[in-house]
Amino acid sequence: MTDETKTPDKFTIINELARRRGFFWQSYEIYGGASGFVTYGSLGARLKQNIEKKLRELFVNKLGILEIDSPIIAPSKVFEASGHVDHFKELMVECLKCKRQFRADNLLREFAKIGESEAEKLSLKEVKEAIEKHEIRCPECGGTFGEPKYFLIMFKTTIGPYSDAVGYGRPEAAQGIFVEFRHLYEMAREKLPFGVIQIGHALRNEISPRQGLIRWREFTIADLEFFFDPEEPNCYLLKDFENETLPLVLAENKLRGSEEIVKVTVKEALTKGYIKAEWQAVFMALAKKLLVDFGVPAEKQRFIEKLPWEKAHYAVQSFDQEICVERWGWFEVSGHAYRTDYDLKRHMQFSGVDMRVFKEYEKPVERKRTVVKPLMAKLGPVFKEDAANVAEMLSEADPEEVEASIKKNGYYMLGKCKVLPEYIEIACQKVKERGRKFVPHVVEPSFGSDRLVYVTLEYAYRVKDGRAILSFPRDVAPIQVGVYPLVSKNGLPERTLQIHKTLLDEGFMAEYDEAGSIGRRYARADEIGVPLGITVDYDTLKDNTVTVRDRDSWKQVRSRVEELPQLLRKYFRWKADFEDLGKPFKG
Ligand code: ATP
Ligand code: GLY
Repeated sequence: MTDETKTPDKFTIINELARRRGFFWQSYEIYGGASGFVTYGSLGARLKQNIEKKLRELFVNKLGILEIDSPIIAPSKVFEASGHVDHFKELMVECLKCKRQFRADNLLREFAKIGESEAEKLSLKEVKEAIEKHEIRCPECGGTFGEPKYFLIMFKTTIGPYSDAVGYGRPEAAQGIFVEFRHLYEMAREKLPFGVIQIGHALRNEISPRQGLIRWREFTIADLEFFFDPEEPNCYLLKDFENETLPLVLAENKLRGSEEIVKVTVKEALTKGYIKAEWQAVFMALAKKLLVDFGVPAEKQRFIEKLPWEKAHYAVQSFDQEICVERWGWFEVSGHAYRTDYDLKRHMQFSGVDMRVFKEYEKPVERKRTVVKPLMAKLGPVFKEDAANVAEMLSEADPEEVEASIKKNGYYMLGKCKVLPEYIEIACQKVKERGRKFVPHVVEPSFGSDRLVYVTLEYAYRVKDGRAILSFPRDVAPIQVGVYPLVSKNGLPERTLQIHKTLLDEGFMAEYDEAGSIGRRYARADEIGVPLGITVDYDTLKDNTVTVRDRDSWKQVRSRVEELPQLLRKYFRWKADFEDLGKPFKG
């Protein structure tokens, strides 16, 4: 069988349907297209909004997580502090003949059967040797490769007309949250734990963005940073989720070459130490439920733990939520990382702004502590009106750091103030501590909206009697109801337009369509995933009832027009079944 006669796979079918029906297509087509950039049409944009609405309903509305919207461009300092300037790099090779560039790990996987994880471990020299040993040539022109090198996948720019003011496009929305921590902590009424989510565009100058919808250079990310006290890591939602099953692929098994899925409850995952942080385990259970809500059955999901060299630089433990799709097998839709206090500490170090929070003890605790005692009699004449301020900051300084600096330099620098040994006394004394200061820890679930759109499409796609149907879950479908006159004459369009207007006024996404036969209109609606069709016929003019048709079963019931808004509201909130639409409305 040649490639042309093979049945196309779901990825091909969905991309074709998406383009034809206006869900999405490659951007800048009139200029030949630019890979890694995609434009959503009206159906796709709405599908994506509905998916993000579900994230908001769960995290913002139900769990009370704060939402922010911060800039995409940040001064380079932000990403120097976050570690991205040093770490956000991929190994790349360039073909000496056609100059095309490839990710080294992809080439090694495809042509030398070296696993992705193994490839990530290799040094520049080892990659070069592997390419030579396996005689890997350019897949495009057969040319040989130059020296492998690291490629920073952040987009670099300048801010304003000053060429030295370097900025970067954010590769994750998380840093917009970390840098605003002081404001956000205040918004959270200075209490831990609390979470902040940001859903927005992220930029990654991916080397090979060729996997269609899956790896783009500009995409939408939903980063949720959940801050908690590492000494009180208990999750108050655990009781509700402890019996949920998590399908895990553990790092220890991966190291033995096995991708066996271990099915454990959230509680077992924690007691067995498979997942380090309670909050992380609970967010993983929530992520699994979300994907079920998007139409992906639990058995088509897994969480695969990253090996030490696969993890991002900030994480002590990471799992990727993967979904089984037809073309690629398992592929990632969300990442779950325990970032500890890494990011806040780094921003504290680079900005000089204190990112610690203060937690008051129930009763003050008396402890013996080494302290820095400022001697006012000495500080006063030297620092004059600043003396009180200097004294306060000195008494908060770390005695070990002060001692070490004095030992090494003969003085201690407090900002711009030079503190000589005779200005202070380092003493062990009993102090009453009212509380403690610490940098909060963070767990992060991070979803890619576009990948969620893709899996929702793939799992919604089915064929019935030779016709394509997108069986979207009813609450994510871009259009909720199609409203149709049976025929375009004898007063039916006018009555249908009245009903259509009422439904729009009631807040439903309703579409009016009178083009072609009713059968063709139903078929078109099924293909774009409209859950319900409402048809106005001659009986409507007599008894004010309409036919309501179900997209998936093609069953029909008759409903009273005046009851439609209440019935539909219940239906789209999953509080009524299709059959209930044919019964009188009961509160
Ligand atoms: P990958 O290994 O596929 O490059 P990643 O591990 O770098 O992804 P994260 O940094 O954890 O991904 O990003 C969080 C989420 O953002 C991912 O789970 C994915 O859904 C999405 N994502 C990441 N990169 C892209 C991209 N280039 N295009 C579309 N979505 C992406
Ligand atoms: N959140 C992905 C990264 O910044 O590494």
